Amino acid sequence: MRIVGAIAAMTSERVIGSDNSIPWHYSEDFKRFKRVTLNGTVIMGRNTWESIGSKALPKRRNIVISRRGVNDVECYSSIDTTLECLNKSAEDTSPIWFIGGGQIYAAAFELFNLLDITTVPDNIPNTSAVVFPEISTEDWHAGPSQPLAADPRLDCQRFIRTEHQHLSEVQAWLRSDQ
Ligand SMILES: NC(=O)c1ccc[n+]([C@@H]2O[C@H](COP(=O)([O-])OP(=O)(O)OC[C@H]3O[C@@H](n4cnc5c(N)ncnc54)[C@H](OP(=O)(O)O)[C@@H]3O)[C@@H](O)[C@H]2O)c1
Repeated sequence: MRIVGAIAAMTSERVIGSDNSIPWHYSEDFKRFKRVTLNGTVIMGRNTWESIGSKALPKRRNIVISRRGVNDVECYSSIDTTLECLNKSAEDTSPIWFIGGGQIYAAAFELFNLLDITTVPDNIPNTSAVVFPEISTEDWHAGPSQPLAADPRLDCQRFIRTEHQHLSEVQAWLRSDQ
């Protein structure tokens, strides 16, 4: 089974961003994000694309989702069209990572089989913030929650859809990449 995952860093209140940026900076989280997503496909919404300076993340296939279109990057107008296109090349089994932001996580949530969540210690008021969808314990089986070795302020945890939890291949997915 191909990984179709969401990777996100959030507060304990599920805040992932505000003012079209991420209101914290942990270099070890960036390093880990790079390690996990390298050589795979990263899919993001147009706001997130703009928030990273409209520049592709190196050594990954970058895809932006926008109804109105975006130049200079592979772009599709819907999540379905994006996945149809990715699934055309059956020989490519590299992971597909949805990397945000809030609208895209919410719209694609039912398609994910894996969630890779880093919890940051920050306390951000979530009045005007962008949040990650709720992770229900009914639908998701939680892997171990582990402090990131390189920065123990960060906590890493993976979740697998409960219907997949007994597949042997997914056990490896649950061990957070450190
Ligand atoms: N903490 C983290 O891990 C993390 C990761 C990524 C982003 N973020 C943060 O999240 C925030 C951005 O999130 P956001 O929710 O504002 O925006 P977003 O999801 O990045 O992008 C929203 C845009 O994507 C397009 N879009 C969304 N859903 C679509 C759909 N179903 N079909 C077609 N197009 C769709 C639309 O573009 P058009 O308007 O062009 O049609 C929409 O305006 C920022 O603060 C960013 O820093 C945090």
